[in-house]
Amino acid sequence: MIYSKLGILICNSTLITIFILSIHYADSKLDQKQIFLKHGTRYESTDILARAFKSDVRKTMTVQFFKNNTKTLETSVDLNENMLKTSGCLPSDKISIVLHGWIQSCSDEWALSLIDRLSFYRKGCVICIDYSTVASSSYMRLYSNFEHITEAIVGIIIGLIQHGFDPNRAYLFGFSFGGQLASAVGRSLQPHFTLQNIDTCDMAGPGFDPIAVDHSKAGKNVQCFHSSRDKGTLIHSCHRNIMLGSCGLSQPSVASQLHLGSHGLCVDIYINSFDYPFYALKSPPPECISFTAAAKIPDDYTVGYDEHFNKQVMGKIYVPTSLHYPYNLSKKELQLLYMDFKRE
Ligand SMILES: *[C@@H]1O[C@H](CO)[C@@H](O)[C@H](O)[C@H]1NC(C)=O
Ligand SMILES: *[C@@H]1O[C@H](CO)[C@@H](O)[C@H](O)[C@H]1NC(C)=O
Repeated sequence: MIYSKLGILICNSTLITIFILSIHYADSKLDQKQIFLKHGTRYESTDILARAFKSDVRKTMTVQFFKNNTKTLETSVDLNENMLKTSGCLPSDKISIVLHGWIQSCSDEWALSLIDRLSFYRKGCVICIDYSTVASSSYMRLYSNFEHITEAIVGIIIGLIQHGFDPNRAYLFGFSFGGQLASAVGRSLQPHFTLQNIDTCDMAGPGFDPIAVDHSKAGKNVQCFHSSRDKGTLIHSCHRNIMLGSCGLSQPSVASQLHLGSHGLCVDIYINSFDYPFYALKSPPPECISFTAAAKIPDDYTVGYDEHFNKQVMGKIYVPTSLHYPYNLSKKELQLLYMDFKRE
């Protein structure tokens, strides 16, 4: 049961009113329809208040620029040319944008590691968009701001494009709630702009499932890594759906360390995939039930960040993971476990 002391909700009946209220859920599956208003203070209200609320969320967000793995600029959502100059990022640079999850920020260890790996392998300009203020309390508070945050990120990306950045050289990464944002942002930019690559890591399920969103519409190449049954989405509509560990539902390494669950392990595995090979099975393991097509997998195919996306490999890809850091399995171990490479 989730209980959020202070929530702000905009109701629209004959006149728009804003309530400051206590919200109460009967179920941990977050669903706006299940909000019960317990008591509230009513304010005289107009559109101005609704807009003020939206801009409050924007005001708490920051855009952080990294060049060569060094933070060069931290600024508000409204970018201008002079600001961008101080970021050291050039319009001709590749851009990578990182979106974090609930109770997270751009200062989290995984975010810094990912920025580091992207700076090293992808190079160019790395941007992390921080909405930790709105993400720091209840999931419901963050969830109820999904559209506001999406709009703000869309605004940032349009601003970058207006300053000369090329969506064909853009890459967007989102973990958990950030994965849902990445998909929504990509879809909102269409049909005017199409982002080249979008990778998501265990895109959040609560509040979003089971609505059948076509995530492949978010960008030219969309790959989604799945690692947990409880926090990750069960919608697998990306160009590639990479099922990590046991059918994308859990990771064996939850047993070997205490600080990360199957959900959190997704980003660690993704980050490690820059440096270690994570081999895909050539055929789905029999224990993984699936109603969608499995990908046709070339020999020795590994998953992870993939700048030159191979459009021949689409659909579900099964990638077992190991008990210990860095969570990859050697080809030999895969062979022993799945008799996979031998059979081919
Ligand atoms: C990037 O950073 C590394 C280490 O901090 C430094 O050795 C290198 O010269 C830098 N490269 C550029 C192009 O600034
Ligand atoms: C992970 O990959 C490395 C590098 O290829 C390899 O040496 C190592 O054996 C792999 N890990 C495991 C557990 O097999």
